[in-house]
Amino acid sequence: MFDQKNIFITGGTGSWGNELVKQLLEKYNPKKITIYSRGEHKQVEMKRHFNNPKLRFIIGDVRDKNILELAMRGADFVFHLAALKHVPVCEENCWEAVLTNVIGTQNVIECAIKNKVAKVIDVSTDKAVDPFNLYGVTKACGEKLVVNANNNYISDVKFACIRGGNVMGTNGSVLPLFKKQILENNQITITDPNMTRYLMSTREAISLVFSAMEASNGGEIFVMRMPATTVSDIAEVMIKLFGNKDTKIQYMGTRPGEKQHEVLVSKNEAPRTKIYKDDYYVIIPQITDEKTQNSYDSFKSLELEEFTSRNARRLSKQELETLILKEDWIK
Ligand SMILES: NC(=O)c1ccc[n+]([C@@H]2O[C@H](COP(=O)([O-])OP(=O)(O)OC[C@H]3O[C@@H](n4cnc5c(N)ncnc54)[C@H](OP(=O)(O)O)[C@@H]3O)[C@@H](O)[C@H]2O)c1
Repeated sequence: MFDQKNIFITGGTGSWGNELVKQLLEKYNPKKITIYSRGEHKQVEMKRHFNNPKLRFIIGDVRDKNILELAMRGADFVFHLAALKHVPVCEENCWEAVLTNVIGTQNVIECAIKNKVAKVIDVSTDKAVDPFNLYGVTKACGEKLVVNANNNYISDVKFACIRGGNVMGTNGSVLPLFKKQILENNQITITDPNMTRYLMSTREAISLVFSAMEASNGGEIFVMRMPATTVSDIAEVMIKLFGNKDTKIQYMGTRPGEKQHEVLVSKNEAPRTKIYKDDYYVIIPQITDEKTQNSYDSFKSLELEEFTSRNARRLSKQELETLILKEDWIK
């Protein structure tokens, strides 16, 4: 669906953006991919890395609607990735998080409508479900704006979301941090060993983004049926890979805004959630048209009360190790 199309990516220089561009170029033949972000350094690095004339880099902020609208001209599909995403940073800079994650998302919606884009996919997070920190609250607001944009405005643009859990090796992920801590001090700091977290590779995350862009009728939230692990299992496997019998573990306790378990489908959403193609759940919007409703009629309903990192399939330590060893950053 992306062949000879113009793709526009906000926040395209980040971890998800780099993998998204890589897979778009590998699997499709897009006409142009525009990457819109603020930092010139990351853009220059990415331009050098890909060295592909199909890529167009534009410096801009999602908060700046005028530039965003100009930059988005001619786009067929928009992937909205730009966000402030570190829980402590958002707690300490609340208004900045609102400006980027909420106002920025509304700007993306309005510019997509003005530019008559075909589809917009907003990348959201498990932290947006029953949110407990400001990052989650702003991403939940973003989801609502995106889902409701299908009904709030008269336009042909289709808006949908995807929700992912932790992606290994992305900026700020705990796994590369553990590696660094072991190699530098032969010690790791962990919050709570029993904490559970969803875990997937960037490659898997991007396949969910493509599926959502292809399948969406507008208003759905696509969720990957991700497996989960405990913080203590991650620590154990990382020590096995990089440490030795003297590697120490320091326990810090839960940080402000952190949950013991994450949720990808809440109790309120579960009754309108369908199992889509074995790998995904799709949450049908509360307000929707007959076409969207009918298109999921034949899919089985979710039979869980909610989908959490506690009741998700638990990765064995061997599976976890195999997953980690496939990651590029491990080298
Ligand atoms: N990583 C995960 O585990 C995970 C899991 C679930 C969902 N997500 C979501 O996935 C998306 C991408 O995450 P990521 O891990 O790729 O993050 P990342 O590596 O931190 O990348 C964020 C991107 O957004 C850009 N950006 C930030 N503020 C911006 C602004 N105001 N205007 C324009 N661009 C801006 C950044 O570039 P500049 O700073 O140069 O502008 C960068 O390109 C986010 O929406 C995040 O909430 C991530």
